[in-house]
Amino acid sequence: MRNKNILITGGAGFIGSHVVRLFVEKYPEYHIFNLDALTYAGNLENLKDIENHKNYTFIKADITHEDVINDLFIKYKFDSVIHLAAESHVDRSIKDPLAFVKTNVIGTMNLLNAFKNCWNNDFSNKLFYHVSTDEVYGTLGETGLFTETTSYDPNSPYSASKASSDHFVRAYGETYNMPYVITNCSNNYGQNQFPEKLIPLFINNIINNKPLPVYGDGNYTRDWLYVIDHAIAIDLVFHKGKNHDTYNIGGFNEWKNIDLVKLLCKQMDIELNREEGTSEKLITYVKDRPGHDLRYAIDASKIKNELGWEPSVTFEQGLEKTIKWFLNNENWLNNVTSGQYKSYYEKQYN
Ligand code: NAD
Ligand code: TYD
Repeated sequence: MRNKNILITGGAGFIGSHVVRLFVEKYPEYHIFNLDALTYAGNLENLKDIENHKNYTFIKADITHEDVINDLFIKYKFDSVIHLAAESHVDRSIKDPLAFVKTNVIGTMNLLNAFKNCWNNDFSNKLFYHVSTDEVYGTLGETGLFTETTSYDPNSPYSASKASSDHFVRAYGETYNMPYVITNCSNNYGQNQFPEKLIPLFINNIINNKPLPVYGDGNYTRDWLYVIDHAIAIDLVFHKGKNHDTYNIGGFNEWKNIDLVKLLCKQMDIELNREEGTSEKLITYVKDRPGHDLRYAIDASKIKNELGWEPSVTFEQGLEKTIKWFLNNENWLNNVTSGQYKSYYEKQYN
């Protein structure tokens, strides 16, 4: 018997696929609907191992299509939504901001409206879980941490669109008493990440002996979290988080880009049996990203103190697992880097 119909959006993407797998395997009593438009970032190969599970259904649909989304809520009566579908890459948002407004803002609005109409304002045992980013807080200087009460101050079209969607979720909570939680997480890395983001892009370039394009002077800082630890945090907040609340999720793990890239090069040399220093020679400083945020760093003490969550692996361990996965899954990497990827890469880096 199904006692929960959970809609996970963006489940064919990087983080979404790990969340879908965790929920499908851990909760056979729930039915998990994975709704994804399968954009360049969505890949059903990420879920091959669970695609035949009885409690799993894939729905190919686009969250910007209002009527389709409404019909799906009428048909399946989703009790809860875990919303991850988004355009997620800052560099792409600089080239095409409107695509980010369409999916991240309008798409989120369509889900909120469909959820609200489906339950006709009777929300007992229902939840809208919105997955967001620490980038909504803008940039930090050399010191300080983002907390849940830090003011929003987004600098890129991506972070502005995510900030906007966060505000709408919160507004629906206040105005219509819709139950919601929002989590704002730091930079994720791990298996299945599309090779446009720093770590998988650089792993792929090292494998292929291509330049490693470090933006600006490389002295930008990010906090990195292993993707499976993010999925575990989402499970915890989904079940135990306070209604109408937000939680920051982070790895307690700040790295300057250039230091991270040097560590990655070192680990790649070991895995590829290359002489130490070989991969570092590929580092190439390139033109900076416009509006590049200097530093993100998360104070994740609220989720730690209230829900007992902490990252389960160190950065070195997570990075090693990630590198090994990419090296053992060359087909995955070759499939996603064929076709459209090449023209994206040329436009972005040449
Ligand atoms: P991703 O780009 O890997 O995956 C996004 C998924 O959404 C893809 O499967 C794509 O096909 C789907 N999608 C895109 N537009 C859609 C649409 N219009 N309709 C339906 N599906 C659509 O992204 P990710 O890195 O897995 O991020 C997932 C979520 O987590 C996003 O909301 C992102 O803002 C947030 N987040 C990401 C990070 C990170 O470091 N990657 C950190 C914090 C928060
Ligand atoms: P990215 O993975 O795009 O995540 P975000 O911009 O959401 O933090 O980038 C992480 C950091 O790495 C960021 O400071 C930009 C930098 N970067 C490069 O130096 N070169 C690159 O080719 C990419 C993609 C990112």
